[in-house]
Amino acid sequence: MPAASLDQLVSLCKRRGFIFPGSEIYGGLANTWDYGPLGVELKNRVKREWWEAFVHKRPDMVGLDASILMNPQVWVASGHVSNFNDPMVDCKNCKSRFRGDKLVEEKLGVEEAVSLALEEVQPKLMDEKVPCPACGKVQWTSAKQFNMMFKTHQGVLEEEAALVYLRPETAQGIFVNFKNIVDTMRMRLPFGVAQIGKAFRNEITPGNFTFRSREFEQMEIEYFVEPGKEAPAFEAWKDTVSQWYRGLGIHEEHLRIREHAKEELAFYSSRTIDIEYRFPWGWGELFGLANRADYDLSQHTKLSGQDLQYTDPDDATKKFLPFVVEPSFGCDRSVLTFLLEAYTEETLQNGEARTVMKFDPRLAPVDLAILPLSKKEHLISKAKELYNTIVHKTDLVCDFDVTGSIGKRYRRQDEIGTPRAVTVDFGTLGEDDKQGLKDTVTLRDRDTLKQERLAIGELLETLGTSRG
Ligand code: GAP
Repeated sequence: MPAASLDQLVSLCKRRGFIFPGSEIYGGLANTWDYGPLGVELKNRVKREWWEAFVHKRPDMVGLDASILMNPQVWVASGHVSNFNDPMVDCKNCKSRFRGDKLVEEKLGVEEAVSLALEEVQPKLMDEKVPCPACGKVQWTSAKQFNMMFKTHQGVLEEEAALVYLRPETAQGIFVNFKNIVDTMRMRLPFGVAQIGKAFRNEITPGNFTFRSREFEQMEIEYFVEPGKEAPAFEAWKDTVSQWYRGLGIHEEHLRIREHAKEELAFYSSRTIDIEYRFPWGWGELFGLANRADYDLSQHTKLSGQDLQYTDPDDATKKFLPFVVEPSFGCDRSVLTFLLEAYTEETLQNGEARTVMKFDPRLAPVDLAILPLSKKEHLISKAKELYNTIVHKTDLVCDFDVTGSIGKRYRRQDEIGTPRAVTVDFGTLGEDDKQGLKDTVTLRDRDTLKQERLAIGELLETLGTSRG
């Protein structure tokens, strides 16, 4: 059962060290978020699962880590300088700024919003009496195009010649390295290049926690195919991606696919579908799959003057620009989805309420908690010995917690989603047969609450060497 409201999750994330508001001690910076000690573990695990599934376990994929700052011509070629715009409207009463199409979407639905031309946005807002979310008045200016790229200057001179952009998508790093990758890795079509990294967009209306922020991470793939072979690749990626999310615990009924209408397509795309998740405020884009055809490679060929054609290794006379199918994942949105999906409030048989994050064990920030039953020094030292053995013999991330009653500590581990906990007690020390035999411990399962008594040797076998 995912979280019923976003507030419940935001509060747990703050309380338990997953996600903090950015620059909080200075009053914050709107819509910036910092991943805390558990959040960074969760995010790293999402990235690791993604990299394993889409790079390490596929012979047709390689990775890349390109710069955030790129030659500004890249963004002229890609079309972002002229086309990466959102329709901005101002409230004449309180001067707040909003994305006009999003205001229409919230009132009338996405289909109505995407078909609007720029000059139709303001009349629509007025006709439908869409109020300003800040002051409630219906007094809108005409919509203006607002380019979402963040600008900065490279070097010491803040002049036009030194202008650079923070990349608004990671994809272009892949296109500009296409030739390098083909030449150095002897890649044969079809093949893909994967990249995880930060992207920046000066969003007019960020919000909904990390869902829409101005600095975020993407996990993108550009999959190159022979022209004419993009349709089957598109279908295959659609299924692969849905399976990846479902395999990591997202319920099928919380996912849906939405095909973009022609008017909604991004300037580079001839077909796009979104995989949407049912967020607490409604359906929202989690992932996008686009057919970019040869748009980017042909644009970069034109502007760079370089020949970016692929040569068929079996027939050197066959040269062409490959077509591109692009599976683009939002990393932060994926993390948010896994958090929402894991959030569970339940009442136990004894009537006690608990909040438990039911993460897939491969994503849980902590794999195992080691809990000495009491603070007695010799018990703690036995538990520490076990902790050291486990962290050195396995790649499990372990938490060692001695504070509070054992019940409270179980609840704390439930709240951060630790799949298993080991209790070390006086039985383990050979001092109390009623608790258990010497050198045995109790292993507790987060979801079933089942507890079993195991010899330490058996425990190490049960844990194996790796997580999940
Ligand atoms: N290269 C294609 C591309 O960037 P996009 O649909 O604009 O396509 C891809 O972005 C994914 O990046 C989205 O599906 C979403 O998950 C994520 N994303 C986009 N803008 C975002 C924002 N402002 N905050 C958080 N995630 C965002």
